[in-house]
Amino acid sequence: MKRSRFARAASAGIGRIEKASSLDKPSYIAETAIARPAQIAGSPAEKIGNALHGTSYGHPLHPMLVTLPIGAWTFAFGLDLLAMLGFRSKGLERSADFALKAGAAGAVAAAAAGVADWQHTNGRDRRVGTAHALVNTTSLALHLASVALRGRGHLGRGRLASAAGWACLLVGGYLGGHMVYRRQIGVDHADRSPEPRDFQAVLPVSELEEDRPRRVEVRDEDARQDIGVVLVRHKGRVQAMGARCSHMGGPLDQGWVLSGALVCPWHGSRYDLESGWPTSGPSTCPQPRYEVRLRDGMVEIRREQEPGDEIVTADDFDRMPPLSDGVPFRGKKADEVLFEHHELIRRLFRAIKNTPRDDPQRRDLLRTLASELEIHEYVEDHIFYPAVHPISEDVPIAHSEHRQLSDLLAKTLKLNTASEEFEEHLQALHAAVDHHAGSEERSMFQEAQRLGDARLRQMGQELERTLEEQRTSRHQRLFRDLKIRLLEGI
Ligand code: FES
Ligand SMILES: [Fe+2]
Ligand SMILES: [Fe+2]
Repeated sequence: MKRSRFARAASAGIGRIEKASSLDKPSYIAETAIARPAQIAGSPAEKIGNALHGTSYGHPLHPMLVTLPIGAWTFAFGLDLLAMLGFRSKGLERSADFALKAGAAGAVAAAAAGVADWQHTNGRDRRVGTAHALVNTTSLALHLASVALRGRGHLGRGRLASAAGWACLLVGGYLGGHMVYRRQIGVDHADRSPEPRDFQAVLPVSELEEDRPRRVEVRDEDARQDIGVVLVRHKGRVQAMGARCSHMGGPLDQGWVLSGALVCPWHGSRYDLESGWPTSGPSTCPQPRYEVRLRDGMVEIRREQEPGDEIVTADDFDRMPPLSDGVPFRGKKADEVLFEHHELIRRLFRAIKNTPRDDPQRRDLLRTLASELEIHEYVEDHIFYPAVHPISEDVPIAHSEHRQLSDLLAKTLKLNTASEEFEEHLQALHAAVDHHAGSEERSMFQEAQRLGDARLRQMGQELERTLEEQRTSRHQRLFRDLKIRLLEGI
């Protein structure tokens, strides 16, 4: 699909803003005008700055506050539309008035938080931020003008002004979205790898000097990258946190220690050495933390769990109760059952390809393939993935790939099996299934071995039972057939 005219115009417009170096001088003058009084005021201004960034609550404040003007002004715009459609009443007019004023108050608060964050952007991000601020200020001015006009009885002109302000709000929102989603301003830039899950020696402790940050690296095989960790020896204790600053990715190992915190050299966020939490912004997000222990003169680190983590470590395996009172499970392991099913699906693809295009059997084979794919996804989603989720980072991606496979299958089912388009879609589906099954076999099935032989065989039994049940149950078959027919027909 080609880019729409709107997308082309919008990206050209943003490109022009990003190149507009004429915005730099006024923006740096404005930044200095904000920074100087804050520097003179000292600690109280720092506290206000931390509150405006959201450092104090561990989350950016600006996106929360912008909901106030967006909601209130959109509400007022809706009421004005109702009035234009003939639903007129004093009550509606008063409500619109109130919403405009409430939105203006929210906009001022949101602007304060936005300016606090904007000071720490530079280059093209600062230019887009400046444009975002100018457009939103225009929106605020138009809404305030609307309040004034309505107050003087010029209802029509007042409505026109707020409608124009509302349009500016959309443009401002577009630019704000560009900064967050494209330019990643305000998102967490730290490396949040779960590695190392178990203690790993990283440096002789003798190489650590008091209050001199030192970078070490640990390997994350899944992400295929080395993760930087910064070690700091402070008051005789060794602390470890992620080396990439969560604010914008600054190198914390090149920072310095001040009042029990590690300072980022880029924008001066300070992270408490004990907890990794920012004690001063602009960062709002804690650094990844590592447990530290000293063994045989070496510093050993292990990634500390965060709320929401589901990582299982060797300790957790030791705590798991033994299965089946020592009676060994027989039969295939879960990964073997699934591998056999992968092979069956691969054979079905080959069979369809080897069947002549005009042979009606192609459609039957395609339905069988659709049905087997669906059963396969069902048993993985309900039995296998939940069991391996804690030890494999591949599961969330695998879920996404299942979704993609079923979208692609739905498109393929709609096509005439004799057509060229079908051939192309079948090829794509085959490639997608091959990629998905192959990566399960190479990675997730290997990781699953950590669950132990007994658990994998127990799960293998359950998988085989469910596969059989899904294939033979009349009710399940009918339901699946109906779904396939609907996909073919709609
Ligand atoms: S990158 Fe901005 S404070 Fe670290
Ligand atoms: Fe899968
Ligand atoms: Fe699979």
